Amino acid sequence: MRFPNDFLFGAATAAYQVEGAWNEDGKGPSNWDVFSKIEGKTLNGTNGDIAIDHYHRYKEDIALMGKMGLESYRFSIAWTRIYPDGTGKVNQKGLDFYNSLIDECLEYGVVPFVTLYHWDMPQALEEKGGWTNSKTVDAFVRFVETCFDCFGDRVKHWITFNESVYFLRFGYITGAHPPGHQNDQKGFFEAIVNMHRAHARSVIAYKERKQYGEIGFSHGFAPNFALNDCKGNKEAELHANMFETYIYLDPVYLGSYPKYCQEALERRGLKLPYNEEDLKLFKKASELIDFIGLNYYHPNTVRKAEASKVSIDYSREASTGQKKQYYYDGFYEIVKPEGREYTKWGWEVSPGALLEGMEMLRERYGLNIRFYITENGYGDFDKKDETMIDDTPRIEFIEKHLLALRKGIREGMNIKGYFAWSFIDLLSWLNGFEKQYGFVYVDHDNGLARSEKRSFYWYKETIEKRGENLKEKENG
Ligand code: BG6
Repeated sequence: MRFPNDFLFGAATAAYQVEGAWNEDGKGPSNWDVFSKIEGKTLNGTNGDIAIDHYHRYKEDIALMGKMGLESYRFSIAWTRIYPDGTGKVNQKGLDFYNSLIDECLEYGVVPFVTLYHWDMPQALEEKGGWTNSKTVDAFVRFVETCFDCFGDRVKHWITFNESVYFLRFGYITGAHPPGHQNDQKGFFEAIVNMHRAHARSVIAYKERKQYGEIGFSHGFAPNFALNDCKGNKEAELHANMFETYIYLDPVYLGSYPKYCQEALERRGLKLPYNEEDLKLFKKASELIDFIGLNYYHPNTVRKAEASKVSIDYSREASTGQKKQYYYDGFYEIVKPEGREYTKWGWEVSPGALLEGMEMLRERYGLNIRFYITENGYGDFDKKDETMIDDTPRIEFIEKHLLALRKGIREGMNIKGYFAWSFIDLLSWLNGFEKQYGFVYVDHDNGLARSEKRSFYWYKETIEKRGENLKEKENG
């Protein structure tokens, strides 16, 4: 079976991870520009000051996309290029940059798929409380309206937020992301509600413009499965899915928070600080939203934690998956059963769990809900040698996941596209330049020179044949 003609084969990046030029052409400092320079926060003190210099080399990079026949490029817009301090005047040079980038994509027939918030916010707003401050919501809406007005004639696919589950948990509980708060539970739940307000208002603002494109929300989707059927572990599974997925997606797709979460929070003297007006807003936006974006790398296996042993691990390694994780309320822990396949960073490889997870979402949000896989990929230590980099493990990983998606489509799932993470090697937020995901290698010892990996040509062929080249292995 070929993938349907309207299924997009894409690849993704994010502004902070590729652009560099952190203080050029009027760009303001972002929270990541500041946070990454605090000692110990990132691997070897790596930061995005230069990243892979996509800001200056985007034409070369998009030409490579053209050479590959890539159908869609998912990238994010740095808020700090458009509004350097979050409020105040728009920065024309920032608009110029994204206008050229979008035009360049279209020149090569590459569909732009734009993320509005991929974690970098103006530092000036972070200093005033970031997502815990309702003024950040107003500033964000102004930013996205500017993007719709300036780019919406050519951009027809938008994502409001990337992986709120991670930037909020790491920002307010483990402290691994800005603003670096540790166990700030009040701030955490305030930030969740403000993020949902910002999302809902953005969706409504987009639809009011009648630009006839689509808009969605990308979730960092790690579906949780109980270690076994014992009652405690099944409770852990439910709790994990409620607090890692449904608390983020229910307001977006159903217009309200899960009752389960509200009751569990009340028992701990906490609450989600929303009101009736918010529920009306969420409901309205939930009726307008077009798709769920899933960033899927791995599932989690969970078991009930022994409360006495639970403590939050604030280390960078815990946030990158290298260490054992406890959920901060002490309810469950993530375990890594033996005999399964894991990446070098301890992420379980399981395309089947993606489909199972998508079934869970269809049951909750509707069988015909439209999906895009907005990220999926394989992090590895790719080292340059004399010849082309042979990244066969990456090819195998992506192939398995595409086969699972094709099975899902055959069985009636409404899946409209797949974005490999990432098009090109880029900066990992916490893992520096060691953990690479790209189809294109970037040589940091040789002026950031680009070269294609084996996976580049394999994905090219997959796109050309619309997945027919994957067929034999599926049957074999
Ligand atoms: C996702 C993010 O969480 O995972 C990306 O949206 C990120 O921005 C990707 O790079 C991979 O993460 P890591 O930690 O393996 O580099």
